[in-house]
Amino acid sequence: MNSDLQGIHIIATGRYIPPKVVTNDDLSEIVDTNDEWIRQRTGIERRHFSDGEKNVDMAVKAAKMAIDHAGIDTSELAACVTATFSPDYFVPSVACMIQKELELPDDIPSFDINAACSGFIYGMQVARGMLLQSPKKYALVVGSEIISKFLDMEDRGTCVLFGDGAGAAIIELSDEKKYVSYLGAGGNDEYIFCPNADEEKRKVHMDGSKVFRFAVSTVPKCINNVLDKAGISKDDVDFYVCHQANKRIIENVAAKLDIPLEKFYMNLQEYGNTSAASVPIVLSEMNDKGLLRPGMKIVCVGFGAGLTWAGVLIEW
Ligand code: UT7
Repeated sequence: MNSDLQGIHIIATGRYIPPKVVTNDDLSEIVDTNDEWIRQRTGIERRHFSDGEKNVDMAVKAAKMAIDHAGIDTSELAACVTATFSPDYFVPSVACMIQKELELPDDIPSFDINAACSGFIYGMQVARGMLLQSPKKYALVVGSEIISKFLDMEDRGTCVLFGDGAGAAIIELSDEKKYVSYLGAGGNDEYIFCPNADEEKRKVHMDGSKVFRFAVSTVPKCINNVLDKAGISKDDVDFYVCHQANKRIIENVAAKLDIPLEKFYMNLQEYGNTSAASVPIVLSEMNDKGLLRPGMKIVCVGFGAGLTWAGVLIEW
């Protein structure tokens, strides 16, 4: 089999959202903001913050749900890849701690990648590459973020946007499922960044309107590139799963590409922007609702700090 033709099949998904809900009204007691502004400018109504859980605690729960749903023997895993920009430690990685907590075999590479909000899609691409070189059948890909730990709760321009959570998927290679990807980066430490060298400033900083403009030009580019490479039209796609940053970004993309908004699943109203966790949380939620059926074509798109971007066509 020509490896270029082997797609990936997501055989199961999982997610974990911490139970602590933080509403827009809650935030208006901390910073000069209000529910109306946040809803109108972002679509976000509430988000969930960790209440003592670590990044790895959420990642383990999402990963376990995906493994349980897949019903696989973990000895068949070829890799454990976690996408995150908010790990508990520089080392050990979140992925290594998942390996420990879930007692995954010790003969599989386990590591984190950081491509911010594009991370889960980068992670699927990396895991696919590892599966192509492994005799084992499955890979675990997780996106997990504890962004609340890195928020400046005095900056209304960022603290209202983000939330915590984790999503996960078990993937296998497939000769039948189409897979096309378009990944890229353009280094930029001005639009959005989170320093680690200076503990005082270890917070998310963002020029919102510059990131907004980057998003509304990049997402259509990713979608068009994926459609062109796959040789299909926008109408052939059943769902577009876009990184959940802002409802207005998704509406703008839908209008620009003349794609019905109903094809863009949104849950940002409940979770806010969970960076690398947002795409797998959406996939898990849609899967549990029975929205995803075998053969459906789904285009996932991520964009964010780095700057990074990633689009992928998968078949369910
Ligand atoms: O996942 C990483 C990718 N990140 C993103 O995709 C975020 C992309 N950017 C955005 O989603 C939007 O730019 C924001 C939601 C962050 C901001 O929306 P905007 O429409 O671009 O607003 P703005 O930054 O231009 O600010 C407009 C006004 C300003 O006040 P003045 O200068 O006009 O008086 C802000 O100070 O809104 C003010 N403002 C707020 N007011 C109430 C900014 N944040 C808030 C707030 N509550 N939370």
